[in-house]
Amino acid sequence: MKLVAKTLYGLEKVLADELTDLGADFVKGANRAVLFEGDNKLLYKANYCLRNALSVLVTFSEFRIRTRDDLIRKGMALEWDHFMNVDDTFAVTAVVNSPIFTHTGYPGLILKDAIADYFRKKTGRRPSVNATDPDILVNLHISNDLVSISIDSSVVPLFKRGYRQEQTVAPLNEVLAAGILRLSGWNASVALTDPMCGSGTIPIEAGMIACNIPAGKFRASFGFQRWKDFDENLFEEVKKEADGLIKPSPVKIFGSDILNDAVRTARINIAKAGLSGFIDINVADFKELKSHDSNGFIFINPPYGQRIQPEEIDELYAMIGSSLKHNFQGSTAWLITSNKESLKKVALKPAEKHILFNGALECTLLKYEMYHGSKKINAVNQV
Ligand SMILES: C[S@@+](CC[C@H](N)C(=O)[O-])C[C@H]1O[C@@H](n2cnc3c(N)ncnc32)[C@H](O)[C@@H]1O
Repeated sequence: MKLVAKTLYGLEKVLADELTDLGADFVKGANRAVLFEGDNKLLYKANYCLRNALSVLVTFSEFRIRTRDDLIRKGMALEWDHFMNVDDTFAVTAVVNSPIFTHTGYPGLILKDAIADYFRKKTGRRPSVNATDPDILVNLHISNDLVSISIDSSVVPLFKRGYRQEQTVAPLNEVLAAGILRLSGWNASVALTDPMCGSGTIPIEAGMIACNIPAGKFRASFGFQRWKDFDENLFEEVKKEADGLIKPSPVKIFGSDILNDAVRTARINIAKAGLSGFIDINVADFKELKSHDSNGFIFINPPYGQRIQPEEIDELYAMIGSSLKHNFQGSTAWLITSNKESLKKVALKPAEKHILFNGALECTLLKYEMYHGSKKINAVNQV
């Protein structure tokens, strides 16, 4: 099967690496996606194990069109009963960038009608549309004259891991948190600290990596489980193999936040992920915090400043820079923010920069090497 794993901007490379590790063939990066090939077992494994994918699609058909009628005709000619029965509900999502269609919503409606007409012709009945919880989610992608129709095997996006019971004001997307961890090269051989942990996303994703817990372990279900060709025994085998690799974390993970409420929320989510024994969570102001490990990794996702006065947010970023310099010597620090202005107040020279998106917000992820003692190579504004 030709498969597509969708991801967030900037995570294509880490997702491609993850797919290669999983045993995928013909892995090729695309825009916010990775193309690959594999069988049903790999499809189930990708859904159950991938940390850096938002969804996994099975390409059903690719063709070129010149007119809107081509989409109706070719859409109706596909063998839809390969994936669904007339009693299954379905929905169509569409991403369209083509001069053939002026209204981007229109091609989705055309395909929806084509599917319904296909079944009406065959059975005399039309399948029902269910936009919120469909049995079959069809993905239509049109780029100029090239149409690609796929079936979404995840349906509920894969960042919905199933461990988040509660959330704080601005939680990181779970896929973004996992992607940052993979980009950083942290491999659970040294301690990890998140001093502004909010609802605990980074510590939990780190804990799942350290314990080899599959990303989908706590999900209630995946879209492919409702497909007519769903092979339950094969899925059980995939889960058994992946779950068999779960082990205790070899390192300690620390999370803290200045707010009691955030810490309470993080604890609830950590417990749901079965990680209470490996993650220490405490209330603390970052400026009071000392490094837990002389060569550990520290991940910071500070407030971006939307709800705070500009002077206060500048002060916070200056404090982050100064605390890293004085209290985290020997550590490798990673910071993600969309606030480019306040970022200057950190006043440390980054060793790496990556552009990522947190929802619609363009963010910079920076790496700071905090050298020991007098080696102040990373300090920009020494006095
Ligand atoms: C953007 S949120 C972090 C979200 C988190 N990554 C998550 O996924 O839920 C920023 C967090 O920084 C915390 N914070 C702000 N100032 C702090 C300080 N001085 N020390 C520790 N935490 C602080 C806030 O309470 C907030 O929970």
